[in-house]
Amino acid sequence: MDASAPAIDVQGLSKRFEATVALDDVSLSIGRAEVRALIGENGAGKSTLVKVLSGLIRPDQGTVKVFGDTVPFGRPKAAYRHGIQTAFQELTLIRDLTVTQNLLLPYEPVAFSQIRKRHARRLVEAHLAKLGLEAISPDRLISDLDLPTRQKVEIAKAIGRKPRVLLLDEPTSTLSASDVDWLGRLITQLKAEGITVVFISHRMAEVRRFCESVTVLRNGKHVGSYKIDEVSDTDVVRLIIGRSLGAIYPPRVDNRKADAAAPALAGDGLSAGAMLRDTSFVLWPGEVLGIAGLQGMGQLELFEALFGVIGLKAGKIMLGGRAVTLANPSDAVNAGVGISLVPEDRKSEGLFLKLSGKDNASLPVIDRFSRFLWVDRGAERKAVDRVFARLQVHPRALYKPASSFSGGNQQKIAIAKWLLADSKVLLMFDPTRGVDIGTKHEIYVLIRELAAQGHAVLFYSTEVPELVNLCDRVLVMYRGRIVAELKGDAISEETIMTPALGGSAATAGAA
Ligand SMILES: Nc1ncnc2c1ncn2[C@@H]1O[C@H](COP(=O)(O)OP(=O)(O)OP(=O)(O)O)[C@@H](O)[C@H]1O
Ligand SMILES: [Mg+2]
Repeated sequence: MDASAPAIDVQGLSKRFEATVALDDVSLSIGRAEVRALIGENGAGKSTLVKVLSGLIRPDQGTVKVFGDTVPFGRPKAAYRHGIQTAFQELTLIRDLTVTQNLLLPYEPVAFSQIRKRHARRLVEAHLAKLGLEAISPDRLISDLDLPTRQKVEIAKAIGRKPRVLLLDEPTSTLSASDVDWLGRLITQLKAEGITVVFISHRMAEVRRFCESVTVLRNGKHVGSYKIDEVSDTDVVRLIIGRSLGAIYPPRVDNRKADAAAPALAGDGLSAGAMLRDTSFVLWPGEVLGIAGLQGMGQLELFEALFGVIGLKAGKIMLGGRAVTLANPSDAVNAGVGISLVPEDRKSEGLFLKLSGKDNASLPVIDRFSRFLWVDRGAERKAVDRVFARLQVHPRALYKPASSFSGGNQQKIAIAKWLLADSKVLLMFDPTRGVDIGTKHEIYVLIRELAAQGHAVLFYSTEVPELVNLCDRVLVMYRGRIVAELKGDAISEETIMTPALGGSAATAGAA
């Protein structure tokens, strides 16, 4: 091993998937104990690079050296032996196993004796505690954990294997602000221990906070690598999308029809799940109503109850002024003017990954395209084409299985799917998660357009600036209740964060 060699040295790396060039002659190197950001549009090749380094994908050409040693391709064990560990974008945890079992994989925990099992559990408990994750019980099944917690377990699993190089593929896209702070502290600590970290994110603020340098990929090509202070945010946007982008957020025109006969959607004293308690709100046609809150404050239960995923313990839901019972999601889609949900976990809920993009998009509205027993494929195609064009989903999405798309493009298909249902009420739960800056802009424009057309949008985001810039009104949740209501210019990061952290609940400009 060459003591002066960089941690990672990639030369002439290329990878094609049929017609798609995912990596195009990429050469770059990353120093020891360096924290390097890897950024680029959806489909730019970031995850492909991570998977090549992890031994999951065999490239067509090129070499990879880790600490000076050439690593053979397509062999996860070889990557592991060279000290590479990865927290993958589409989490790799096994849902039917516990946290302990997942952290111990690939060993055979089922074959362990009771004594070894107890020992293993203690090791995992200590490991989680060391990372500040003592709140996660080692005995819980992965399927019982929410997405942010699974993400933290995925990270803990990678760190538990003592990496020399840690690859983090969009670890923050599901995390709330306080968890992002947690990860920031962890990265600092890992760097101090001499570990090299590669950090993928679509959020420039995090990249600046955590990383000392940044590599930009575009269409599979290495655009360049820079010290973080050498490039401004405007430079970075231009490097990422190859052109400059004016304002990220569209102007917020007030289209609220608060004089409508009835709110588009209202909740009256809603209680559901373990968290949501006595929550009342109204959402007017033409309004974008934001929901703010730290992770686990009842926002997920609120969205799930409004979409018929979980039942109500108390209260009633009113759609267009009429009480509705939503026993399941198809009740919600078919009720009155219709309710759509862009869900939290596109991997397990939003998309059927084996179906093509087109089939995924038209699934909820297939009735509209079926005459008697067959589906009018022509009409289906036209409708799906229109929605995809609007979201700039690649035309290939029509035919390819959703699983072959990059993470962000999967999210776009999930949104397209619900736009096609043309519901008057749209529930959007963190819709821009994992979406690149150019497409985020498209989604923002789209949300404001939908409002202008009279749709009512309930919008939750883990990114507070989105709530500030996009919403007509914001409700802040704390411990299962709405504790503050903000309107228009009274909405700021500070007026949201104070009550979100349990501070004195201001009510400004309530509607
Ligand atoms: N298994 C696969 N089969 C076919 N095409 C693939 C496969 N994996 C990736 N691709 C394609 O390769 C390109 C690069 O994908 P990749 O997942 O590396 O993008 P990314 O930069 O990670 O994007 P995102 O920000 O959306 O996660 C995309 O066009 C994608 O559709
Ligand atoms: Mg990716």
